[in-house]
Amino acid sequence: MKIAVAGATGAVGQQMIKCLEERLPQAEIKALASARSAGKVLSFQKQYVIGELTENSFDDVDYVLGATENNITAWWAPLAVKAGAVVVDNSSLYRLQEDVPLVIPEINPEDILTHHGIIANPNCATIIALVAVNALHQRWHVERMIVSTYQAVSGAGMQGIRDLENQVKDPSVPSLAFPHPIAYNLIPQIGGFDEEGYSSEERKMQNEGRKIWHHPELLVNCTCVRVPTMRSHAESITLQFREKPDLAEARELLKKAEGVILADDPKNHVYPMPLTTSDQDLVYVGRLRKDVSDPKEHSLVLFCSGDQIRKGAATNTVQILEKLLASK
Ligand SMILES: NC(=O)c1ccc[n+]([C@@H]2O[C@H](COP(=O)([O-])OP(=O)(O)OC[C@H]3O[C@@H](n4cnc5c(N)ncnc54)[C@H](OP(=O)(O)O)[C@@H]3O)[C@@H](O)[C@H]2O)c1
Repeated sequence: MKIAVAGATGAVGQQMIKCLEERLPQAEIKALASARSAGKVLSFQKQYVIGELTENSFDDVDYVLGATENNITAWWAPLAVKAGAVVVDNSSLYRLQEDVPLVIPEINPEDILTHHGIIANPNCATIIALVAVNALHQRWHVERMIVSTYQAVSGAGMQGIRDLENQVKDPSVPSLAFPHPIAYNLIPQIGGFDEEGYSSEERKMQNEGRKIWHHPELLVNCTCVRVPTMRSHAESITLQFREKPDLAEARELLKKAEGVILADDPKNHVYPMPLTTSDQDLVYVGRLRKDVSDPKEHSLVLFCSGDQIRKGAATNTVQILEKLLASK
């Protein structure tokens, strides 16, 4: 089995190779990136010489894990499918396309089998949120979510990491990945704004959540904020349910939920935080409580955090691939 990683030098691509080494050690990995990186060597458990991604890159591969921006993916993904490979892609290009499944393996693995050559990995903040709340949704049915995100700089790729590293040493270094300095700051903008004042990132949770949950009436109001953490997004989420939830039962459901760890002992300072949730695959959930502003008592509030390069991107992609392989 030969697996190409397109965008292997990026934040997601490098993590994909590490996840493949951990989870599918039998796979032969072909690391691809731009001409700028061709010939460079990546060293993890094994070493990989980067090849330039060209139209002939996919002739000998079975699967391609995509970790490039939309415009680059638009160029290579059709070539990969034409060459007979199955693509699992991390860009947002194909996520809402009707014939492309959008999959979180803990939630809608059965959708994988409907693919026509391309399977999309959802937005990272959407994956973290939906894994965190899925067990509660299955029990009481989420009608509306109000979300504020605290998104790490690595969500903007390697340049986002470099900007924060540089600016903590010298705050006068200009940002290349962000419209403002990010060190000692936070920026309430991720992506461009639409005519209603929402950023592109803020629209993803409703659009993608509806598709993943097969829930066309889902309503989400999201505010996305870039914060000066290196990795692991965090999110404050208010959930309004159709049925009246029970707090004690919610706690029990979260203890058993797939992909979730309940970290909820605030009096002892236990709650989800980026430093404790980085470099692992579980989504931490805590600060679970009733929404005291809802007189009907149909709402709960929680805080979650998960490593968006792993579970929000690379791990989720490799899990999709594992499900695909298991279905053969
Ligand atoms: N970072 C996250 O947390 C995250 C989470 C979910 C989804 N995503 C999505 O995943 C994708 C990758 O994000 P990232 O954060 O890993 O970005 P990144 O760190 O900026 O990496 C981008 C990758 O694309 C490659 N690339 C650029 N131009 C290319 C070209 N012309 N031909 C071939 N390869 C080219 C780069 O190679 P060079 O090094 O050679 O330039 C690099 O390997 C994006 O679509 C992003 O939206 C990211």
